[in-house]
Amino acid sequence: MEKNTSQSLFERGSKVLVEGVSSASRGPAAFGTTPRYMSHGQGSRLYDVDGREYIDWMMAFGALPLGHAHPKIVETVTREIARGSHFATALEVEVEVAELLVELLPHVEKIRFANTGTEAAMAAIRLARGHTGRRKIIKFEGHYHGWWDAVLINSNPQPITALGHPNSPIRIPDSSGMTEESWMDTIVVPWNDIEALERAMALHGRDAACVVTEGVMSNMGVIAPAPGYLNKMQDLCKQYGALFYLDETVTGFRVAAGGCAELYGLKPDIVTYGKALGGGVPMAAIGGSSDIMSGLEWGKVLHFGTHNAGRLALHICKTMLIEMLANQQAGFKKIKDLGLKLTKEIQEVTRKSNKHKVICQGVNSMFQIFFTDQEKISDYRDFCRSVDRIKFRDFSLKLFDKGIYMNPSATLHSLSAVVHNEEDIRVTAKAISETLDEL
Ligand SMILES: Cc1ncc(COP(=O)(O)O)c(C=O)c1O
Repeated sequence: MEKNTSQSLFERGSKVLVEGVSSASRGPAAFGTTPRYMSHGQGSRLYDVDGREYIDWMMAFGALPLGHAHPKIVETVTREIARGSHFATALEVEVEVAELLVELLPHVEKIRFANTGTEAAMAAIRLARGHTGRRKIIKFEGHYHGWWDAVLINSNPQPITALGHPNSPIRIPDSSGMTEESWMDTIVVPWNDIEALERAMALHGRDAACVVTEGVMSNMGVIAPAPGYLNKMQDLCKQYGALFYLDETVTGFRVAAGGCAELYGLKPDIVTYGKALGGGVPMAAIGGSSDIMSGLEWGKVLHFGTHNAGRLALHICKTMLIEMLANQQAGFKKIKDLGLKLTKEIQEVTRKSNKHKVICQGVNSMFQIFFTDQEKISDYRDFCRSVDRIKFRDFSLKLFDKGIYMNPSATLHSLSAVVHNEEDIRVTAKAISETLDEL
Protein backbone atom coordinates (compact mmCIF):
# COMPACT_ATOMS: atom_id res chain seq x y z
CA MET A 1 0.00 0.00 0.00
CA GLU A 2 1.28 3.47 -0.83
CA LYS A 3 2.28 5.64 2.07
CA ASN A 4 0.22 8.72 2.71
CA THR A 5 1.88 12.09 3.29
CA SER A 6 1.42 11.92 7.09
CA GLN A 7 3.29 8.61 7.16
CA SER A 8 6.11 9.98 5.00
CA LEU A 9 6.37 13.10 7.16
CA PHE A 10 6.42 10.99 10.30
CA GLU A 11 9.30 8.95 8.90
CA ARG A 12 11.20 12.08 7.96
CA GLY A 13 10.30 13.81 11.22
CA SER A 14 11.37 10.88 13.37
CA LYS A 15 14.91 11.23 12.00
CA VAL A 16 15.25 14.83 13.15
CA LEU A 17 12.64 15.39 15.87
CA VAL A 18 12.22 13.40 19.06
CA GLU A 19 9.31 11.03 18.30
CA GLY A 20 8.67 13.08 15.17
CA VAL A 21 6.95 15.86 17.16
CA SER A 22 7.59 18.50 19.85
CA SER A 23 5.29 17.36 22.67
CA ALA A 24 4.52 13.75 23.59
CA SER A 25 0.76 14.38 23.42
CA ARG A 26 1.05 14.98 19.65
CA GLY A 27 2.99 11.84 18.80
CA PRO A 28 3.05 8.08 19.27
CA ALA A 29 2.59 8.34 23.07
CA ALA A 30 -0.96 9.58 22.49
CA PHE A 31 -1.70 8.18 19.02
CA GLY A 32 0.03 4.80 19.33
CA THR A 33 0.71 5.23 15.61
CA THR A 34 1.48 7.89 13.04
CA PRO A 35 -0.10 11.20 14.02
CA ARG A 36 -1.99 13.05 11.31
CA TYR A 37 0.01 16.05 10.13
CA MET A 38 -2.24 19.08 9.71
CA SER A 39 -1.78 21.66 7.01
CA HIS A 40 -4.35 24.33 7.82
CA GLY A 41 -7.50 25.21 9.73
CA GLN A 42 -10.57 27.28 8.95
CA GLY A 43 -13.45 27.92 11.35
CA SER A 44 -14.35 24.60 12.99
CA ARG A 45 -12.33 22.57 10.47
CA LEU A 46 -8.81 21.16 10.35
CA TYR A 47 -7.29 19.86 7.09
CA ASP A 48 -4.48 17.32 6.98
CA VAL A 49 -1.62 17.09 4.52
CA ASP A 50 -3.48 14.34 2.65
CA GLY A 51 -6.43 16.66 2.03
CA ARG A 52 -8.82 15.15 4.61
CA GLU A 53 -11.20 17.45 6.46
CA TYR A 54 -12.01 17.10 10.17
CA ILE A 55 -14.46 18.76 12.55
CA ASP A 56 -11.96 19.85 15.16
CA TRP A 57 -13.10 19.31 18.76
CA MET A 58 -9.60 19.61 20.18
CA MET A 59 -9.16 23.26 19.24
CA ALA A 60 -5.46 23.32 20.12
CA PHE A 61 -6.14 21.98 23.63
CA GLY A 62 -8.62 24.79 24.22
CA ALA A 63 -6.49 27.66 22.92
CA LEU A 64 -9.00 28.65 20.22
CA PRO A 65 -12.37 29.86 21.55
CA LEU A 66 -12.88 31.67 18.21
CA GLY A 67 -11.83 28.66 16.12
CA HIS A 68 -9.29 28.63 13.30
CA ALA A 69 -8.32 31.68 11.26
CA HIS A 70 -11.11 33.87 12.65
CA PRO A 71 -11.36 36.91 10.31
CA LYS A 72 -10.93 39.38 13.20
CA ILE A 73 -7.79 37.59 14.41
CA VAL A 74 -6.38 37.40 10.87
CA GLU A 75 -7.05 41.12 10.44
CA THR A 76 -5.41 41.92 13.79
CA VAL A 77 -2.27 39.90 13.06
CA THR A 78 -1.95 41.22 9.51
CA ARG A 79 -2.27 44.80 10.74
CA GLU A 80 0.06 44.47 13.72
CA ILE A 81 2.86 42.32 12.24
CA ALA A 82 3.46 45.07 9.71
CA ARG A 83 4.24 47.38 12.65
CA GLY A 84 6.80 45.05 14.27
CA SER A 85 6.65 41.63 15.90
CA HIS A 86 8.05 42.17 19.37
CA PHE A 87 9.64 45.11 21.18
CA ALA A 88 10.09 43.83 24.76
CA THR A 89 9.21 47.34 25.96
CA ALA A 90 6.23 48.76 27.83
CA LEU A 91 3.17 48.85 25.54
CA GLU A 92 -0.18 50.63 25.38
CA VAL A 93 -1.93 47.38 24.42
CA GLU A 94 -0.46 45.75 27.54
CA VAL A 95 -2.24 48.35 29.69
CA GLU A 96 -5.45 47.98 27.65
CA VAL A 97 -5.58 44.18 28.00
CA ALA A 98 -4.78 44.34 31.71
CA GLU A 99 -7.61 46.90 32.14
CA LEU A 100 -10.03 44.61 30.28
CA LEU A 101 -9.06 41.67 32.50
CA VAL A 102 -9.25 43.60 35.76
CA GLU A 103 -12.71 44.85 34.79
CA LEU A 104 -13.88 41.33 33.90
CA LEU A 105 -12.39 39.41 36.85
CA PRO A 106 -13.48 40.63 40.31
CA HIS A 107 -10.72 38.64 42.07
CA VAL A 108 -7.97 40.28 40.00
CA GLU A 109 -6.65 43.76 40.79
CA LYS A 110 -3.25 43.36 39.17
CA ILE A 111 -1.86 41.27 36.35
CA ARG A 112 1.55 40.02 35.26
CA PHE A 113 1.79 38.53 31.77
CA ALA A 114 3.77 35.39 30.95
CA ASN A 115 3.84 33.01 27.98
CA THR A 116 2.63 29.55 29.01
CA GLY A 117 0.56 27.93 31.73
CA THR A 118 3.70 26.23 33.05
CA GLU A 119 5.60 29.49 33.41
CA ALA A 120 2.65 31.23 35.04
CA ALA A 121 2.32 28.39 37.59
CA MET A 122 6.04 28.57 38.37
CA ALA A 123 5.81 32.29 39.07
CA ALA A 124 2.54 31.88 41.03
CA ILE A 125 3.98 29.29 43.38
CA ARG A 126 7.17 31.27 43.92
CA LEU A 127 4.95 34.28 44.63
CA ALA A 128 2.88 32.27 47.14
CA ARG A 129 6.09 31.22 48.92
CA GLY A 130 7.48 34.75 48.81
CA HIS A 131 4.24 36.21 50.17
CA THR A 132 3.71 33.74 53.02
CA GLY A 133 7.30 32.82 53.88
CA ARG A 134 6.21 29.16 53.84
CA ARG A 135 7.77 26.28 51.86
CA LYS A 136 5.08 23.64 51.35
CA ILE A 137 2.50 23.50 48.61
CA ILE A 138 -0.56 21.27 48.49
CA LYS A 139 -1.58 19.83 45.11
CA PHE A 140 -4.07 17.17 44.07
CA GLU A 141 -3.85 13.73 42.53
CA GLY A 142 -4.43 13.86 38.78
CA HIS A 143 -3.98 17.62 38.54
CA TYR A 144 -1.44 19.04 36.10
CA HIS A 145 0.09 22.47 36.48
CA GLY A 146 2.76 22.25 33.81
CA TRP A 147 5.84 20.16 33.34
CA TRP A 148 8.19 21.68 35.94
CA ASP A 149 9.51 19.60 38.78
CA ALA A 150 7.76 20.86 41.94
CA VAL A 151 4.30 20.02 40.61
CA LEU A 152 5.10 17.15 38.26
CA ILE A 153 4.06 14.41 40.62
CA ASN A 154 0.90 12.27 40.60
CA SER A 155 -0.31 13.97 37.42
CA ASN A 156 -0.39 10.90 35.18
CA PRO A 157 -2.68 7.87 35.54
CA GLN A 158 -1.06 4.99 37.45
CA PRO A 159 -2.06 1.44 38.35
CA ILE A 160 -4.43 1.76 41.31
CA THR A 161 -2.13 -0.50 43.37
CA ALA A 162 0.69 2.08 43.13
CA LEU A 163 -1.22 4.96 44.71
CA GLY A 164 -1.07 4.16 48.42
CA HIS A 165 -3.68 5.01 51.04
CA PRO A 166 -5.81 8.08 50.16
CA ASN A 167 -4.89 9.61 53.55
CA SER A 168 -1.27 9.58 52.51
CA PRO A 169 -0.85 9.09 48.75
CA ILE A 170 2.54 7.83 47.57
CA ARG A 171 4.24 10.66 45.73
CA ILE A 172 5.02 9.47 42.21
CA PRO A 173 7.19 11.59 39.92
CA ASP A 174 5.90 11.79 36.35
CA SER A 175 9.33 12.11 34.77
CA SER A 176 12.85 10.79 34.88
CA GLY A 177 15.47 13.38 35.69
CA MET A 178 13.63 14.82 38.69
CA THR A 179 15.26 14.88 42.11
CA GLU A 180 13.46 14.04 45.35
CA GLU A 181 14.40 17.49 46.66
CA SER A 182 12.29 19.10 43.93
CA TRP A 183 9.05 17.60 45.23
CA MET A 184 10.05 17.32 48.92
CA ASP A 185 7.77 20.26 49.84
CA THR A 186 4.84 19.17 47.67
CA ILE A 187 2.00 17.44 49.52
CA VAL A 188 -0.40 15.38 47.40
CA VAL A 189 -4.06 14.97 48.36
CA PRO A 190 -6.99 13.20 46.61
CA TRP A 191 -9.31 15.77 44.95
CA ASN A 192 -13.07 16.08 45.43
CA ASP A 193 -12.70 14.67 48.96
CA ILE A 194 -13.15 17.39 51.57
CA GLU A 195 -12.26 15.14 54.51
CA ALA A 196 -8.94 14.25 52.89
CA LEU A 197 -8.20 17.94 52.48
CA GLU A 198 -9.22 18.74 56.07
CA ARG A 199 -6.83 16.02 57.27
CA ALA A 200 -4.01 17.32 55.09
CA MET A 201 -4.60 20.91 56.22
CA ALA A 202 -4.60 19.86 59.88
CA LEU A 203 -1.18 18.26 59.28
CA HIS A 204 0.42 20.73 56.85
CA GLY A 205 -1.89 23.77 56.50
CA ARG A 206 0.19 26.10 58.72
CA ASP A 207 3.32 25.35 56.65
CA ALA A 208 1.57 25.58 53.29
CA ALA A 209 2.23 28.61 51.07
CA CYS A 210 -0.73 27.66 48.90
CA VAL A 211 -3.22 25.03 47.88
CA VAL A 212 -3.17 24.80 44.09
CA THR A 213 -6.14 23.31 42.28
CA GLU A 214 -7.66 23.05 38.82
CA GLY A 215 -11.26 24.32 38.97
CA VAL A 216 -12.50 21.43 36.86
CA MET A 217 -10.27 18.36 36.76
CA SER A 218 -9.20 18.71 33.14
CA ASN A 219 -6.25 16.40 32.85
CA MET A 220 -8.20 13.22 33.73
CA GLY A 221 -10.87 13.86 31.12
CA VAL A 222 -13.46 16.24 32.55
CA ILE A 223 -14.41 15.85 36.22
CA ALA A 224 -16.52 18.55 37.85
CA PRO A 225 -15.93 19.58 41.46
CA ALA A 226 -18.51 18.24 43.95
CA PRO A 227 -21.01 20.98 44.94
CA GLY A 228 -19.41 23.32 47.46
CA TYR A 229 -16.05 21.52 47.38
CA LEU A 230 -13.97 24.41 46.01
CA ASN A 231 -15.71 26.91 48.32
CA LYS A 232 -14.82 24.74 51.29
CA MET A 233 -11.22 24.51 50.01
CA GLN A 234 -11.13 28.31 49.86
CA ASP A 235 -12.40 28.51 53.47
CA LEU A 236 -9.79 26.02 54.67
CA CYS A 237 -7.05 28.06 53.00
CA LYS A 238 -8.25 31.15 54.88
CA GLN A 239 -8.39 29.24 58.15
CA TYR A 240 -4.77 28.06 57.84
CA GLY A 241 -3.32 31.18 56.20
CA ALA A 242 -2.41 29.36 52.97
CA LEU A 243 -3.14 31.11 49.67
CA PHE A 244 -5.92 29.67 47.53
CA TYR A 245 -4.39 29.34 44.05
CA LEU A 246 -6.84 28.51 41.28
CA ASP A 247 -5.12 27.30 38.10
CA GLU A 248 -7.48 28.42 35.32
CA THR A 249 -5.10 27.57 32.46
CA VAL A 250 -7.80 25.35 30.94
CA THR A 251 -10.97 26.79 32.42
CA GLY A 252 -10.28 30.53 32.13
CA PHE A 253 -12.20 32.24 29.29
CA ARG A 254 -13.68 28.80 28.68
CA VAL A 255 -16.26 27.49 31.19
CA ALA A 256 -17.45 31.09 31.66
CA ALA A 257 -15.98 34.49 30.83
CA GLY A 258 -14.61 34.57 34.38
CA GLY A 259 -13.69 30.86 34.40
CA CYS A 260 -14.35 28.64 37.42
CA ALA A 261 -14.07 31.62 39.77
CA GLU A 262 -17.27 32.95 38.19
CA LEU A 263 -18.93 29.56 37.67
CA TYR A 264 -18.50 28.43 41.29
CA GLY A 265 -18.47 31.83 43.05
CA LEU A 266 -14.82 31.76 44.17
CA LYS A 267 -12.38 34.48 45.14
CA PRO A 268 -8.93 32.95 44.66
CA ASP A 269 -5.89 34.70 46.14
CA ILE A 270 -3.85 33.85 43.06
CA VAL A 271 -5.10 32.78 39.65
CA THR A 272 -3.27 31.83 36.46
CA TYR A 273 -4.54 31.79 32.88
CA GLY A 274 -3.15 30.47 29.60
CA LYS A 275 -4.48 28.60 26.56
CA ALA A 276 -7.69 30.48 25.53
CA LEU A 277 -6.23 33.79 26.76
CA GLY A 278 -3.80 33.82 23.83
CA GLY A 279 -6.46 32.99 21.23
CA GLY A 280 -3.97 30.70 19.45
CA VAL A 281 -0.56 32.12 20.34
CA PRO A 282 1.44 31.69 23.58
CA MET A 283 0.11 33.97 26.29
CA ALA A 284 -0.47 33.49 30.00
CA ALA A 285 -1.15 35.65 33.04
CA ILE A 286 -0.87 35.61 36.80
CA GLY A 287 -3.44 37.66 38.70
CA GLY A 288 -4.57 38.47 42.22
CA SER A 289 -5.10 41.26 44.71
CA SER A 290 -2.76 44.28 44.59
CA ASP A 291 -1.36 43.25 47.95
CA ILE A 292 -0.37 39.73 46.86
CA MET A 293 0.70 40.71 43.35
CA SER A 294 2.99 43.41 44.77
CA GLY A 295 5.18 40.46 45.76
CA LEU A 296 6.34 40.37 42.13
CA GLU A 297 7.82 43.87 42.37
CA TRP A 298 11.51 44.22 41.74
CA GLY A 299 13.61 43.08 44.70
CA LYS A 300 10.98 40.68 45.98
CA VAL A 301 9.90 37.58 43.98
CA LEU A 302 11.67 37.45 40.63
CA HIS A 303 9.81 36.86 37.39
CA PHE A 304 11.46 37.67 34.04
CA GLY A 305 10.78 36.78 30.41
CA THR A 306 11.99 38.08 27.03
CA HIS A 307 8.63 37.23 25.51
CA ASN A 308 6.36 38.29 28.39
CA ALA A 309 3.55 40.54 27.14
CA GLY A 310 4.41 39.99 23.48
CA ARG A 311 2.64 42.65 21.44
CA LEU A 312 1.17 40.28 18.86
CA ALA A 313 -0.20 38.03 21.59
CA LEU A 314 -1.67 41.04 23.41
CA HIS A 315 -3.35 42.35 20.26
CA ILE A 316 -4.81 38.89 19.56
CA CYS A 317 -5.93 38.60 23.18
CA LYS A 318 -7.63 42.01 23.00
CA THR A 319 -9.47 41.02 19.81
CA MET A 320 -10.47 37.66 21.30
CA LEU A 321 -11.84 39.30 24.47
CA ILE A 322 -13.74 41.99 22.55
CA GLU A 323 -15.29 39.36 20.25
CA MET A 324 -16.21 36.88 22.99
CA LEU A 325 -17.60 39.57 25.33
CA ALA A 326 -19.67 41.45 22.71
CA ASN A 327 -23.49 41.42 23.05
CA GLN A 328 -23.56 40.47 26.74
CA GLN A 329 -20.86 37.81 26.41
CA ALA A 330 -22.65 36.08 23.52
CA GLY A 331 -19.47 34.20 22.53
CA PHE A 332 -19.13 32.61 25.96
CA LYS A 333 -22.84 31.74 26.01
CA LYS A 334 -22.51 30.16 22.58
CA ILE A 335 -19.57 27.87 23.43
CA LYS A 336 -21.38 26.83 26.60
CA ASP A 337 -24.64 26.01 24.78
CA LEU A 338 -22.81 24.10 22.05
CA GLY A 339 -20.75 22.14 24.58
CA LEU A 340 -23.80 21.23 26.68
CA LYS A 341 -25.79 20.24 23.59
CA LEU A 342 -23.04 18.00 22.24
CA THR A 343 -22.48 16.42 25.66
CA LYS A 344 -26.20 15.63 25.86
CA GLU A 345 -26.27 14.17 22.33
CA ILE A 346 -23.22 12.01 23.06
CA GLN A 347 -24.80 10.85 26.32
CA GLU A 348 -27.89 9.73 24.39
CA VAL A 349 -25.81 7.89 21.81
CA THR A 350 -23.58 6.19 24.39
CA ARG A 351 -26.59 5.13 26.49
CA LYS A 352 -27.95 3.30 23.46
CA SER A 353 -24.74 1.37 22.77
CA ASN A 354 -25.26 -2.28 23.60
CA LYS A 355 -21.65 -3.15 22.73
CA HIS A 356 -19.72 -0.80 25.02
CA LYS A 357 -20.06 0.74 28.46
CA VAL A 358 -19.29 4.36 27.84
CA ILE A 359 -20.25 7.68 29.38
CA CYS A 360 -19.69 11.35 28.57
CA GLN A 361 -18.99 14.05 31.18
CA GLY A 362 -18.84 17.75 30.56
CA VAL A 363 -18.75 21.20 32.09
CA ASN A 364 -20.11 23.86 29.72
CA SER A 365 -17.82 23.96 26.67
CA MET A 366 -15.59 21.06 27.84
CA PHE A 367 -16.40 17.36 27.54
CA GLN A 368 -14.81 13.92 27.52
CA ILE A 369 -15.92 10.39 26.69
CA PHE A 370 -14.92 7.61 29.11
CA PHE A 371 -15.00 3.88 28.38
CA THR A 372 -15.86 2.65 31.87
CA ASP A 373 -18.31 0.40 33.71
CA GLN A 374 -18.95 3.25 36.21
CA GLU A 375 -21.95 5.58 36.02
CA LYS A 376 -19.69 8.50 36.80
CA ILE A 377 -15.98 9.31 37.18
CA SER A 378 -15.61 11.53 40.24
CA ASP A 379 -11.91 11.52 40.95
CA TYR A 380 -8.45 10.43 39.88
CA ARG A 381 -8.70 7.04 41.57
CA ASP A 382 -11.97 6.27 39.75
CA PHE A 383 -10.20 7.18 36.53
CA CYS A 384 -7.13 5.00 37.23
CA ARG A 385 -9.30 2.10 38.39
CA SER A 386 -11.91 2.00 35.70
CA VAL A 387 -11.22 4.04 32.56
CA ASP A 388 -10.10 2.03 29.51
CA ARG A 389 -7.63 4.39 27.86
CA ILE A 390 -6.59 2.02 25.06
CA LYS A 391 -10.18 1.60 23.96
CA PHE A 392 -10.63 5.37 23.89
CA ARG A 393 -7.52 5.70 21.75
CA ASP A 394 -8.77 3.09 19.26
CA PHE A 395 -12.16 4.81 19.21
CA SER A 396 -10.64 8.25 18.50
CA LEU A 397 -8.46 6.88 15.71
CA LYS A 398 -11.57 5.41 14.07
CA LEU A 399 -13.32 8.76 14.46
CA PHE A 400 -10.50 10.37 12.45
CA ASP A 401 -11.58 8.23 9.49
CA LYS A 402 -15.07 9.71 9.84
CA GLY A 403 -13.73 13.27 9.84
CA ILE A 404 -13.96 13.91 13.60
CA TYR A 405 -10.86 15.08 15.44
CA MET A 406 -10.56 14.50 19.20
CA ASN A 407 -7.20 13.96 20.86
CA PRO A 408 -6.79 10.19 21.38
CA SER A 409 -5.57 10.58 24.95
CA ALA A 410 -8.36 9.75 27.43
CA THR A 411 -6.74 12.05 30.01
CA LEU A 412 -7.35 15.09 27.80
CA HIS A 413 -10.69 16.52 26.69
CA SER A 414 -12.58 18.10 23.82
CA LEU A 415 -13.99 21.60 23.52
CA SER A 416 -16.48 23.66 21.56
CA ALA A 417 -15.66 26.98 19.86
CA VAL A 418 -17.95 29.73 18.56
CA VAL A 419 -17.51 28.40 15.02
CA HIS A 420 -19.11 25.00 15.71
CA ASN A 421 -22.79 24.61 14.85
CA GLU A 422 -25.79 22.30 15.23
CA GLU A 423 -24.85 20.39 12.10
CA ASP A 424 -21.35 19.68 13.48
CA ILE A 425 -23.03 18.29 16.60
CA ARG A 426 -25.38 16.09 14.58
CA VAL A 427 -22.56 14.76 12.37
CA THR A 428 -20.33 14.11 15.38
CA ALA A 429 -23.03 12.27 17.36
CA LYS A 430 -23.80 10.10 14.32
CA ALA A 431 -20.10 9.30 13.78
CA ILE A 432 -19.76 8.36 17.47
CA SER A 433 -22.78 6.08 17.25
CA GLU A 434 -21.40 4.31 14.15
CA THR A 435 -17.92 4.01 15.61
CA LEU A 436 -19.30 2.43 18.80
CA ASP A 437 -21.06 -0.17 16.62
CA GLU A 438 -17.90 -0.88 14.65
CA LEU A 439 -15.46 -0.96 17.58
C1 LIG B 1 -4.41 23.12 34.45
C2 LIG B 1 -3.16 23.34 33.66
N1 LIG B 1 -2.20 24.12 34.16
C3 LIG B 1 -1.07 24.37 33.48
C4 LIG B 1 -0.85 23.82 32.23
C5 LIG B 1 0.42 24.09 31.48
O1 LIG B 1 0.16 24.96 30.43
P1 LIG B 1 1.18 25.05 29.20
O2 LIG B 1 1.03 23.80 28.40
O3 LIG B 1 0.73 26.28 28.46
O4 LIG B 1 2.54 25.20 29.77
C6 LIG B 1 -1.83 23.01 31.66
C7 LIG B 1 -1.64 22.42 30.33
O5 LIG B 1 -2.37 21.57 29.86
C8 LIG B 1 -3.00 22.74 32.41
O6 LIG B 1 -3.96 21.92 31.92
